[in-house]
Amino acid sequence: MKVALLVKRGRLINPATGEDTVCDILTEDNKIKAIGTELAAAGATVIDAKGLVVTPGLIDMHVHLRQPGQSQKETIASGTRAAAAGGFTRVATMPNTKPVIDSTIVVDGLKYKIMREGVVKVNIIGSLSKGLEGKELSAMGGMAREGVVAFSDDGRYVENCDFMRKAMEYASMFGKIVIDHCEEASLVADGCMHEGAVSAELGLKGRPAAAEDIAVARDILLAEATGAAVHIAHISTENAVHMVRWAKAKGLKVTAEATPQHMILTDEALRTYDPRFKVNPPLRSESHRRAVVEGLADGTIDAIVTDHAPHTAEEKDCEFSLAPSGFVGLETALGAVLTCLYHTGTVSLMTLIRAMTSTPARLLGLDSGDIAVCNEADITLIDLDKEWTVDPEDFYSRGKSTPFEGMILKGKAVATIVDGKLVMKDGEVLA
Ligand code: DOR
Repeated sequence: MKVALLVKRGRLINPATGEDTVCDILTEDNKIKAIGTELAAAGATVIDAKGLVVTPGLIDMHVHLRQPGQSQKETIASGTRAAAAGGFTRVATMPNTKPVIDSTIVVDGLKYKIMREGVVKVNIIGSLSKGLEGKELSAMGGMAREGVVAFSDDGRYVENCDFMRKAMEYASMFGKIVIDHCEEASLVADGCMHEGAVSAELGLKGRPAAAEDIAVARDILLAEATGAAVHIAHISTENAVHMVRWAKAKGLKVTAEATPQHMILTDEALRTYDPRFKVNPPLRSESHRRAVVEGLADGTIDAIVTDHAPHTAEEKDCEFSLAPSGFVGLETALGAVLTCLYHTGTVSLMTLIRAMTSTPARLLGLDSGDIAVCNEADITLIDLDKEWTVDPEDFYSRGKSTPFEGMILKGKAVATIVDGKLVMKDGEVLA
């Protein structure tokens, strides 16, 4: 028995082709069967998408699903439900787990777990170094063979330049990008927020923008020296954006991603000493925030990612300087960028959706992020005008800490379709 869905009269926004048009989409089993007007299909489940935006399934190339080893923070089951609730059909999970994803054995075990428990598609990012120690290369070749989509020591900066050079050379042999967490270690040391006027007033130790600038400059120069593809994780400073723009103009294989939090919030939010706002790299000052948004609008920044980083309530609920960095984002990202970047007229809908679909797919080397006949039937339906209040108690994620708590957002995913199966409808995850 074939399973068919007919998505009727939605406004298709497909950045892979530039289409922005009202049409019907018919899926059959896990594929797109037809795209057109007035499509009919006996036996198909009809989804009325009139007034909704229909996009390729959203892709988040930077999440922490915490498995193996930290299921108190998140699991494949809870994290992929959170993804489905947020409109994501595919996520790429980072290797700063316990044990670190640095060998084929860990990749194999995780693939099995994903197969059994994943509600959306999960790609694995392997580490660059064994144990994230920045000394010995991980089993990059074996992990590439097992299908990892990129390499990264995210959460930590790769300090040793010669090690990074070798890692870049090795990753490019397998056609994979290197994703770097760019904060030079000696400059950030035990800093816990952006270094500037606010950190001085609050008496908290800062992490200077120069730490990110230096790391990004080093990586760009190594990308030039090696010819490798380097992707700057969660970019957050004005100079870093300028340097990526320069690298692209020079034709280097340098790309970058930005998070909703770095494009929407600033270090002013930290005046309450609330650990919900603690993240690395830190929320910066207004001029940096604006530069990151400009970078997204002009194409310097390629992808929007959540850096979904769940921690337990017990861990987060402590003095600011002691709290772990990071917070969840899968269930707020779309609403946050639609509210603060689209509805304000700052960034076009096509640019936002591109940064959340076709571009991350391309960077990870995936045949994904494009609604076309015979392609995978991964689709997201979005109500641009739906107003809702962020309440972490409603989250599917185990992590409840979010800087957007209590905010009224405008815009939400109302249905998520993975391989032709409806996995989320009106905020409720069905799988
Ligand atoms: O704040 C952060 N938390 N930044 C990172 O890069 C890693 C993440 C985590 O894993 O908790």
